[in-house]
Amino acid sequence: MTKTIGRRVGPLVGVYRPEGDKSLSHRALLFAALAGGESVIRRFLIGGVTRAMLRCLRQLGVEWALDEGAHVLRVRGVGLHGFSVPVGALDCGNSATTFRLLAGAVAAAGIPCTLTGSEGLRRRPMGRIVEPLRLMGADVADCDGRAPLTFRPAPLHALAYALPVASAQVKSCLVLAALAADGPCAFSEPGPSRDHTERMLAAMGASVRALEPPAHGVVTLPLAAPLRPLDIELPGDISSAAFLLVAASILPGSDFTLRQVGVNPTRTGILDALRAMGADIAVLNETVLAGEPVADLRVRAAALTGTSIHGDLVVRMIDEFPAFMIAAACARGETLVRDAAELRAKESDRIAIMAAALAALGVDIEEYPDGFRIRGTGRIAGGVSLDAHGDHRVAMSLALAALVAERPVAIQGFEILGESFPDFPRVLAL
Ligand code: S3P
Repeated sequence: MTKTIGRRVGPLVGVYRPEGDKSLSHRALLFAALAGGESVIRRFLIGGVTRAMLRCLRQLGVEWALDEGAHVLRVRGVGLHGFSVPVGALDCGNSATTFRLLAGAVAAAGIPCTLTGSEGLRRRPMGRIVEPLRLMGADVADCDGRAPLTFRPAPLHALAYALPVASAQVKSCLVLAALAADGPCAFSEPGPSRDHTERMLAAMGASVRALEPPAHGVVTLPLAAPLRPLDIELPGDISSAAFLLVAASILPGSDFTLRQVGVNPTRTGILDALRAMGADIAVLNETVLAGEPVADLRVRAAALTGTSIHGDLVVRMIDEFPAFMIAAACARGETLVRDAAELRAKESDRIAIMAAALAALGVDIEEYPDGFRIRGTGRIAGGVSLDAHGDHRVAMSLALAALVAERPVAIQGFEILGESFPDFPRVLAL
């Protein structure tokens, strides 16, 4: 579907409670499936990516019931070794989180199984889970480092392993496999990837703990007793909130409040980055939901200036770069991002795709292997037709650009945003 979006006349004003966090929805669902007993998950994200996980788990014999109106999911856990052998391959759609986390769970369960996904997912790097899983003893058929992956049952062993790239998906995959290993496993990583898996599994009774700082990573012991079921309400998704933080920052006169958004420090890089640009964001009413810090975020329009981003901050805002690039284009002055080569391995090559789109929109952008430089003038020309390239966050970022562009912007494949933020068009009245 092609959506044409014109400049927005009014500010963004109001209060909104974003849908449940995508990473937490995936984890709560999968870990509940691996628990002993029935779990209740409130404010579960109902999007394309979580529907993929739901479908796969049903194929693995897990029973669940989703109240779509209330966003309440009930899951009957089957235990770490309780998956049934699925008929046919598990199709993870566009969801790398589904693919990588399920790979660890399937290896732990010790069932024969093939995992596959959309054309886009089959282009993404899977060697990063295959190599360490094989070192643990997993039997994964030759795959050239890409999906589909075929697992055969095999005993798993203790392993100490250093991830070459900071990745919560890889770390979580390995932690799940480690629950079924014959001894302790340690996985270190070069940066602070999101720690939701550690927090949630520990709350369910697993022995999973973070490495002592300044090291990043996790130590996991084999599961000694069944995981306790969950009864939780999830925080709102800061990665969805980020689009509205940017929209309100760049639309003059805006004053918008996002309620109960997850503010886990491994996810709040976007707040630090936008504030460094002069954004007016207040963090209010801090509390805890599902073992995660949450807060209300009040954002008011502000004059933004360029900034510089590198190192651990990149990891802490890894999903927010497409939205951030629109903020940088609307800012005055230069924004420089380095150490962000990982953006090329997301739902699309987000450096190349966003650089081409911004250039077409009239923004001065230079691409590097590991980042980009934007010379912001506060002006986006627009008047072009662009493709979302099957990337939900690209689709939404182009919509943000359209809201402030001088001429309308057509976005092909706009509906892909439903993967993670189906509410987006409604909230922005698109
Ligand atoms: C996620 C981890 C990140 C992120 C993705 C969700 C997760 O991926 O980009 O959207 O839920 O663990 P990587 O682990 O590949 O960095």
